[in-house]
Amino acid sequence: MAKKIAAGNWKMNGTQDALSELKAIEAGLPQNAPEVVICPPATLLLPAVDAVQRLKIGAQDCHAAAKGAHTGDISALMITDAGASHVILGHSERRQDHDESDSDIHAKVEAAWAAGLTVILCIGESEADREAGNTLDVIADQLAGSLPDDADADNTVIAYEPIWAIGTGKVPSLEQIAEVHDFLRQSLNDRFGARAGDSISLLYGGSVKPDNAAEIFRVSNVDGALVGGASLKADDFGPIVSALAEA
Ligand code: PGA
Repeated sequence: MAKKIAAGNWKMNGTQDALSELKAIEAGLPQNAPEVVICPPATLLLPAVDAVQRLKIGAQDCHAAAKGAHTGDISALMITDAGASHVILGHSERRQDHDESDSDIHAKVEAAWAAGLTVILCIGESEADREAGNTLDVIADQLAGSLPDDADADNTVIAYEPIWAIGTGKVPSLEQIAEVHDFLRQSLNDRFGARAGDSISLLYGGSVKPDNAAEIFRVSNVDGALVGGASLKADDFGPIVSALAEA
């Protein structure tokens, strides 16, 4: 069985005053809380790690190299050094804004694993891919191209994020989510064996809100969510965490 995880991606939002939201998210955790990972901007990694005990903290990207002349980038080791445990890689905004390819992401995943981080690997189709009926092919290609061979439940979480659902308020039907998550589960089983394949957590991401979380968490092979906008406020994220705890 895969672990339940509620992850928040704060993107380029949040200055030091946002630490009070982080503390409020922690204070509101239900007793049977799933694992909760918050990924604030890099400037908040250290204070976020210091501010909370029961939440895990993650970064939103890392460089593939361990160190060197890469102005503006941060390495996986810098993220672990800050006390964080996770890193989001392959988010569609990175793929689009920074031209990241599957092979770039593959190299970053290896760097993150080498530093001891758990990777939240994002994959997902564009609206044009979906309309052309290519969703599962795109997903299969991204998974094959960006996920190295040593994936297991300790070092990897997969987030299915249809690009057209991110920040748009549009959400796929529950059948569409089930189709992709069942396909992902089967692909992981085929590639890594049932033991690893069944235990890697599969998150859905894209316009998850308090009012749609519970139904999404009832979909087969959905083990949690990667939440953008609704993770910025404890009042929004808290009910999502509670819905997952009850799922
Ligand atoms: P959203 O973002 O919840 O604001 O749609 C999700 C994501 O990009 O991870």
